[in-house]
Amino acid sequence: MLLRDIKNIFHKELNTLYPKEEVSSFFYLLIEHFLGLERFVLALQPDFVLSKKEEQPLFQALSELRLLRPVQYIMGKTHFMDLELTVNPNVLIPRPETEELVRWILNDCHADRRESITILDIGTGSGCIALTLAKNCPDAQVYALDVSEQALEVAQGNAEQNEVEITFLNADIRNLDTLDISFDIVVSNPPYVRETEKKEMRANVTDYEPKEALFVPDNDPLLFYSAIIQFSKNNLKKRGSLYLEVNQYLAQETRQLLEDQNFTDIELRKDLFGNDRMLKGRWKNMRSET
Ligand SMILES: C[S@@+](CC[C@H](N)C(=O)[O-])C[C@H]1O[C@@H](n2cnc3c(N)ncnc32)[C@H](O)[C@@H]1O
Repeated sequence: MLLRDIKNIFHKELNTLYPKEEVSSFFYLLIEHFLGLERFVLALQPDFVLSKKEEQPLFQALSELRLLRPVQYIMGKTHFMDLELTVNPNVLIPRPETEELVRWILNDCHADRRESITILDIGTGSGCIALTLAKNCPDAQVYALDVSEQALEVAQGNAEQNEVEITFLNADIRNLDTLDISFDIVVSNPPYVRETEKKEMRANVTDYEPKEALFVPDNDPLLFYSAIIQFSKNNLKKRGSLYLEVNQYLAQETRQLLEDQNFTDIELRKDLFGNDRMLKGRWKNMRSET
């Protein structure tokens, strides 16, 4: 079949489910992933023909996209900053907002000329935050923690694939007051979507991505932030920094938690969509000043 005819079938079948540009983007991602074809192949060779064997994975992907399965899970991979990461339904698909959080940390580290530092990523999922920090701060000692063993398996595989060294810890941050290590930086993108906000989300997120990575109860939406802040007070070095991705609707309340716990230099930043999304605070660590 002609490649352009397959593209037309993608649009015919999917344009009622997704924006047209997104359908084109799926098509180009899939031909690159399954067939190694560049996106401009159709412009250069409008009559490009695929064999039956070559068509098969594209039609299989089309039927999965019809069921709203995320294209990243169909391909089993995604990109986060300059890294290629394996993903499966045990891990959240990394978001562009999280890349902004990582860029903030990297800018601060490079501005402070801090290299041999110790970093902990809480709720590492695919490992996207920990891996990018380890890759870009080669002298840093990076730790990554998650309650999900399946997520840690994915993150461990990603660390090997990207040739970075990370120490992985399987623990529940709600029951972990302290570790035997002091950190210069603690970072987390914890679950923060309230059950009531589910209806604002697309079915390809709510039906496929891990619920324990996304949702928090309506009656205690900041439970992870309280636990992370408590842990950080016990484990950050003096003037160490805590970076958090936050729920845009609860950003002020999350900021207040940091203030109440005597963090200083608190800064709230917006993401590329203009929503309050990232918080940073420094730990004064009064105990070590006395
Ligand atoms: C929003 S996802 C973030 C994943 C990844 N860091 C990212 O930014 O794409 C939250 C992560 O927290 C983990 N998590 C959920 N509950 C946890 C707990 N009690 N202790 C530690 N990690 C937890 C989930 O398994 C999930 O990987």
